[in-house]
Amino acid sequence: MDEMQQTLIRKFERKNARIGVFGLGYVGLPLSLRFAEEGFTAVGFDIDSMKIKKLMAGESYIEHIASARIKKARKQGFTATADFSQAKQCDALIICVPTPLNKYREPDLSYVTRTMDAIAPYLRKGQIVSLESTTYPGTTDEEIVPRIRARGFKIGREVYVVHSPEREDPGNPNFNTKTIPKICGGITRRCQEVGLALYRGVIDKVVPVADAKTAELTKLLENIHRAVNIGLVNEMKMVADKMGIDIHEVIRAASTKPFGFTPYFPGPGIGGHCIPIDPFYLTWKAREFGINTRFIELSGEVNSGMPDWVVGKITHGLNQHQKSLNGSKVLVLGISYKKNVDDMRESPAVAIMEILRAKGAKVSYTDPHVPVFPKMREHKFDLRSVPLTVENIRKADCVLVATNHDKFDYRMILKRAKLIVDTRGVYTKPAKNVVKA
Ligand SMILES: NC(=O)c1ccc[n+]([C@@H]2O[C@H](COP(=O)([O-])OP(=O)(O)OC[C@H]3O[C@@H](n4cnc5c(N)ncnc54)[C@H](O)[C@@H]3O)[C@@H](O)[C@H]2O)c1
Repeated sequence: MDEMQQTLIRKFERKNARIGVFGLGYVGLPLSLRFAEEGFTAVGFDIDSMKIKKLMAGESYIEHIASARIKKARKQGFTATADFSQAKQCDALIICVPTPLNKYREPDLSYVTRTMDAIAPYLRKGQIVSLESTTYPGTTDEEIVPRIRARGFKIGREVYVVHSPEREDPGNPNFNTKTIPKICGGITRRCQEVGLALYRGVIDKVVPVADAKTAELTKLLENIHRAVNIGLVNEMKMVADKMGIDIHEVIRAASTKPFGFTPYFPGPGIGGHCIPIDPFYLTWKAREFGINTRFIELSGEVNSGMPDWVVGKITHGLNQHQKSLNGSKVLVLGISYKKNVDDMRESPAVAIMEILRAKGAKVSYTDPHVPVFPKMREHKFDLRSVPLTVENIRKADCVLVATNHDKFDYRMILKRAKLIVDTRGVYTKPAKNVVKA
């Protein structure tokens, strides 16, 4: 171990290092707060001035992160800025920016490369750069390392580089940034050692892997595993439905097997920043190696077909009441992509709302976590959440349970609704007004 490496590791161990986190979203914000809570000097960087302003005023913009936590971190020295020149004073530069797909469903690394380009002029010897954004194997080697080398730094000697994928599960009360084990893979062995020291200061268990690309693929495997199994169970749902079997009862029964079975639950489709997107990062990269990722494509096909299938169920339910979808009032319950959160990214409820609207249904929604339909890149609804009252339930020709938030009064809904289309298995007992979807 040389002196520079030793000095940096000691700074992390003594918690007197300055940590820069780039991208203060669902991943970067809780991570910066974690460093602040442990006594590090945490600096959050973002290009969104509204976020910087709010954080500096001690306010949160993410529902499950309390403003009190931000205020406390501010007292502990946490600051937020859009001034990237402050990167120079940081010992660690952690990148947590979005990694979406472009319109051809190919990886869009522009956020990562733009961030790295903005940081590059302020790099100095004795820093570590960690990429946390989810991406295909090879990104850290191919996109981060060359930009650092281009500034004349030797990797693993002067600047250290690791990939350490984030595993945040927003809204899950059982796990948080500190208690979720973290994978870390370095470009060189020295990079790895510095990376482990960085994260050990704030995370209970850091798991070293061979290199950065192993860390990148580990994260993708985790998400592909979910996407494929959800695809499987969605297909099983359609088979069970044709056979007159309740898939949710089947899953509950299979879950009593104490080994070898992991339950996954069907739904209206998949949502969030991860599951619908990340698998296609691998699909794209695998082509370079002459491999077709058939499981990924197949599960993508099944999962993305779910909104249409659900609309078919709504049409069928209305038909039983001698109504057409065109002109019917459909009240959507829950529009965020999963229960008890406000995250709307890739939400299948929105895809369903769009199909319904195109077919002439009068769509409204209720969601205690999303009071106003937010601005989205590809969707526009001029709607506000309506209150979940007996009157509103009665008025609807169909109530669609798209996201099963705990705050909904499901008994009242069952009692008052003319027709319920349940995509989440909320209603376990058969009822005349419930159609399972
Ligand atoms: N949300 C999750 O649950 C989750 C879980 C695991 C991994 N991830 C991964 O983490 C990464 C970040 O996801 P997220 O959910 O935090 O995204 P997010 O959209 O919530 O936050 C990203 C932030 O980065 C900022 N940003 C964009 N360009 C920037 C730039 N050039 N410089 C500085 N800041 C910039 C944005 O303004 C935003 O505040 C993605 O790769 C995602 O796949 C997300």
